[in-house]
Amino acid sequence: MTAEDDLVAQLRDLVRRLNEMPDDREPTLTELGLRVQQHLGSDPSALPVTVENVSPHRLIDIDLALDDLGGDSATLLGISGGTARHHEDFASMLRSLHRGFTADAPVDYTSMADSPHTTRHVVALGLRLLHIDDHPIAVLQRAADRRFGRDTATLEVLASTPATAAAFIDRVRERANELSVVRGQVVTFGRNDYGHGVGSMTFLPRPEVSAASVVLPDGVLERVRDHVVGVAEHADELRAHGQHLKRGILLYGPPGTGKTHTVRHLLHEMPHATAVLLQGGALGAIGEAAQLARALAPAIVVLEDVDLVASERGMFGLQPLLFEVLDALDGLDGDADVAFVMTTNRADVLEPALAARPGRIDLALEIPLPGAEARRALFHLYAKGLRLSRAALDAAAADADGTTASFAKELIRRAVLRATLNRREADDEDLRTAFTELRESTEGISRVLFGGADAAGVPQP
Ligand SMILES: Nc1ncnc2c1ncn2[C@@H]1O[C@H](COP(=O)(O)OP(=O)(O)OP(=O)(O)O)[C@@H](O)[C@H]1O
Ligand SMILES: [Mg+2]
Repeated sequence: MTAEDDLVAQLRDLVRRLNEMPDDREPTLTELGLRVQQHLGSDPSALPVTVENVSPHRLIDIDLALDDLGGDSATLLGISGGTARHHEDFASMLRSLHRGFTADAPVDYTSMADSPHTTRHVVALGLRLLHIDDHPIAVLQRAADRRFGRDTATLEVLASTPATAAAFIDRVRERANELSVVRGQVVTFGRNDYGHGVGSMTFLPRPEVSAASVVLPDGVLERVRDHVVGVAEHADELRAHGQHLKRGILLYGPPGTGKTHTVRHLLHEMPHATAVLLQGGALGAIGEAAQLARALAPAIVVLEDVDLVASERGMFGLQPLLFEVLDALDGLDGDADVAFVMTTNRADVLEPALAARPGRIDLALEIPLPGAEARRALFHLYAKGLRLSRAALDAAAADADGTTASFAKELIRRAVLRATLNRREADDEDLRTAFTELRESTEGISRVLFGGADAAGVPQP
């Protein structure tokens, strides 16, 4: 063994022994800790930190609320300390053996949508020092970040007592609901690809579908409208008479008959209601959607194609997600002005679940295939502005027995497309040709897919 090897061996031994020895140095306040101490007027390391988890999509509302509650005298500081600042919690940032963290770095921001077309900068990591009713409060605000194992955004709150911190958090929550960017907007949740929690939230423009463009059998649209829009319009009177406002509506019927179209009309009719749309895998976000609706009422929660949820889990006999959906309806107080509108083309799949949880749906309406009268109205509606004769449209409508409303729309689209490609205006001949082609092509598809023509809502030859 050379002298050098010997030295290395001794050093290794020394390091091992050092590591095994308890560290008897006192952790001291970091520069960040000193800054917080100055604000609170007492040693922050002696105070418990209250941690409040915030759904990622609500961070923007919380950010607005904190800006508002803090007022002009509040201070917002960025935290230094490299990536360690993402891993350490607030308490350990305040006290350290190495005095690592300071409060003089730039604040980290993230950009979040606050409407279909605009975004806002939101604090992703920053320390807010503020006063509420003369109580000094320090809040570390953080965005969710999967890179650091953070599934939710958080507020880590320090105040003179835990009760002050809890009261402060209640104030923030309340103000966040009042100022919410989602209030009066139409939003949808994506599927969460990570399997748990809620996917990202997207703002949608509010649809513009007038009553005149929805063709349904007499009285159907009025009944849906009264139940969803009418109740909201008379919310105060109904409440005064002790009537509950929460309501569950099921629209069922074959594909392409206008269930989604009807929902879009309802959204148009309620320009100030908060709307949360869920579809497919995102139906798992029902709990979150119900909470949001409750906080931002008047609201409408749309659950599209709920049968998919039911049939997906159907092989286990029970359908947990569907029951979750139904339980969310049950969980809200009756006086919340929230309408749950569900659509399905498989009422038969839903029936057992609905029977097992009665009282969740107070109106179930069939949106049927259009009859002769409705088909004529649909053909004329979608041919508006075109040079197609009344006789040709009436004849096509009469021949289209058994088709859906969407068939009428698609037929006119094809007639116009055919004419446009030939640099002409569409005429009756285009309508007739498109009719034959569309019938043949949909029959072809339905023969391949379903082994028959009727499954796709196509007229029988
Ligand atoms: N009753 C209707 N009146 C007017 N247009 C309609 C009607 N039904 C359907 N349409 C037209 O057809 C399109 C497709 O219909 P929609 O998406 O509403 O069908 P759906 O009943 O929701 O079908 P699915 O069960 O497949 O979801 C609509 O966007 C609309 O343009
Ligand atoms: Mg639909």
